Amino acid sequence: MSLANRDLVTMDDLSYGEMEAVFSLADEMSDAMAEQLDTCRGKVMASLFFEPSTRTRLSFEAAMHRLGGDVISVSDARASSVAKGESLADTARVVGSYADIIVVRHPWEGAARVVADYADVPVINAGDGGHQHPTQTLCDLFTLKKERKDIRGLKIALWGDLKYGRTIHSLIFALAKFGADILFCPSPGLEVPDNIIRKLTAEYGGQVEHVTAPERTADGAPFPLDAVYMTPSSPHQLAMMPDVNVAVSLEEGVDAIYVTRPQKERFVDDEEGQDLKGKYPVVDKKLLKGKRFERALVMHPLPRVDELAYDVDADPRSMYFKQAARGVPIRMALITMLLGARDISIQAEEDISVLSPDYPVYQRDYGARCPNPACVSTKETEAQYLKSEFRIVSREPLTLRCIYCEHGFQPEYVASTDWHEGRVATKRYHRANSYWARKIKPENLIVFGSVDDAETHGFTYGRHEGTKKVKK
Ligand code: NCD
Repeated sequence: MSLANRDLVTMDDLSYGEMEAVFSLADEMSDAMAEQLDTCRGKVMASLFFEPSTRTRLSFEAAMHRLGGDVISVSDARASSVAKGESLADTARVVGSYADIIVVRHPWEGAARVVADYADVPVINAGDGGHQHPTQTLCDLFTLKKERKDIRGLKIALWGDLKYGRTIHSLIFALAKFGADILFCPSPGLEVPDNIIRKLTAEYGGQVEHVTAPERTADGAPFPLDAVYMTPSSPHQLAMMPDVNVAVSLEEGVDAIYVTRPQKERFVDDEEGQDLKGKYPVVDKKLLKGKRFERALVMHPLPRVDELAYDVDADPRSMYFKQAARGVPIRMALITMLLGARDISIQAEEDISVLSPDYPVYQRDYGARCPNPACVSTKETEAQYLKSEFRIVSREPLTLRCIYCEHGFQPEYVASTDWHEGRVATKRYHRANSYWARKIKPENLIVFGSVDDAETHGFTYGRHEGTKKVKK
C-alpha cells in the first residue's frame, strides 16, 4: 500500500496505519532536515489560500522548500480569477496542469472535495470552512504520540467551539480511529453537530453519553462537560451503566485539553457572537491547578484569542507552539508520500474501530439541494455543474449526508423514478415518513426540498397518503 497520487480531503482518507507511516517519516525527516533537499526537487506545489492563514500556509510552503521543491501560490482570492466568478472546478483543472500537488484552503465546506475531483494531481485540504482540517489533526496526533507514546485509551477533552471548529471535527474522527475517549466541553450553543455524533457512533462503534448533571472544577467553577465518547476499546465501557462510565472517566483525569477559539467568521448571525460574552470557557493557570488536569497537555491549533490565558505559556504542559513547529516535518512527510517521492510501504494495519458502512449513493441533477448554506454545492458558481450527491445513511427516518460538506438532513418529500405504470400523469410524491416512501428502492429515490420543488417537476401529492399535505 502507498499514499502516492492520493488526496487528503477528510480524515476518512487516512487509515490508522497510514497515519502511523506519516508520523514515522516525519520523525525521520526532522532528525535529518538538511538531507531532504533532493526529495522533491523539480516538483511544484500550488498553495491556494482563499482564507487567512499564517501557520498552515507557511508551514506547507516551508515544508516544500525544505524538500527542495518549488511553490506557486495564491494567498488572496481577490488577486485570482475567483474574483471574476471562476468556478472551483475550472480553477482546479488549470492549477492541476501547472503543479504536481495542490494545497487548498477555502471558506466553503466541501470545497477541497471539488478541487480533488477536478484536479489531476493530489489535493490536500488545508481547511474547508467549518468542515475539516486534516493536516492540523496530523500535527495534533503527532504531538500526542511524542508526549504520551500511545494514543489508545487516552482521554482528550475538546474545549470551546465544537460546532464550527474544523480542527475539532477532524480530530474527533482521528481520535476515534486511534481508540481514544473524548470529553466534549463546548461553549454553550457551540456543541458538536449531530451529523458528527451520528457518524461517530454509526461508523466507529463507540458510544456517546450525554452528561446531565453539571460538572464542577476543583475550585467549584463549572466544567462545561456536555457529552463523552467512549471508544469500543475502552476498558470502562459498561453499556448498562453510562453514568458510572462518565464518572469513572472523569475521576481518572484528562490526558489533554484541546482548546479552540470561537470561529466568529462562521457564525450565522450577530446573536451567536453576542451570546458568548462571559460564557466562553477560558483555560488558565487556575483551571489547570485542578487534580483532573494534573497530567493534561494543553493543546491549541492557534491562533488564540481570549480562551487560553498567556499565564499558561510557561507551563511545561503547554504544547501549542510545539504543535505548530511540528507542522513542517509532518507536512514534509505528507507531501513526499502523496507525490510518491520516496518508496514507503505501509503495513495494512487494521483500524481500531472503523466500521465503514457501505451507504447507497444518491445523485440527481434536480430535486433537493444540500440545505447547508455554507456547502460548496449551494454556491452560485458551483451549483451550475455540481449535482446533488448524498449518501443515504438511514432509511427510517430517511437521512441523507451530503458528499461535499457531510451535513446530514431529513428530507420531507420523496418520489420514485419508477413511478407507477410509467405514466407522467401518475408521478406522485409522498411524505418521506410514509408507507409509500419506504417502498422506494434507493436507486429510484428522488428527494424534494419542498412541495413546490416536487410540483414544479410535475409530481402530484400521493393520493394514498390519507393525510393532508402541508404547504410549507
Ligand atoms: C485553525 C484553522 O484555520 O482552522 N488554525 C490553524 O490552521 N492552525 C484554527 C483556527 O483558526 O481557529
